[in-house]
Amino acid sequence: MQPSLQPPGTAVALSPRVGIEKLTKEHVEARALLASGDREALASLLRKHIRVEEDVLIPLLAGHLPTNTGPLAVLVREHRTILGLLAGQDTSRLGDMLLAHMAKEEELVYPFAAARLTAEDLARLGDGGRS
Ligand SMILES: [Fe+2]
Ligand SMILES: [Fe+2]
Repeated sequence: MQPSLQPPGTAVALSPRVGIEKLTKEHVEARALLASGDREALASLLRKHIRVEEDVLIPLLAGHLPTNTGPLAVLVREHRTILGLLAGQDTSRLGDMLLAHMAKEEELVYPFAAARLTAEDLARLGDGGRS
C-alpha cells in the first residue's frame, strides 16, 4: 500500500488487521456491558456484531472452511442461542454462553481469519462489509 496515494483517512480504514481488531474491541465492550447489566446496550451491540460476523466474516471464511459442519456451523448455532437468550430472561445462561463463545472466537476463529484472509477481506470486516 502507498499511504501517500490514499485520500485522508483511507489508510486507516484499509489497515489489514482493522476488521479483526474492531471485532475484538466489540468483545471487550460486550464483556463490560455484560458486567454492568445493561442488557439493552448489550443486545444492541451484539446484534450488530453478530450481523457483521455472519454477513462478512463467515462468508469470507467459507473459502477456507466448510459452513454446513465444523466450527463455522457451531458459531452460527451459538449466535442463534445468544440472540434467543438476549430476548429472554435467563441472564446467567446468557453470560456463560457469551463468554465461552467470544473466547473461542478470539482463540481460534479470529487468529485463523487474520492468518488466512487477504488485507482487502480484513479491511471489509473493519467497515462492516460496506466496501
Ligand atoms: Fe460470534
Ligand atoms: Fe464475536
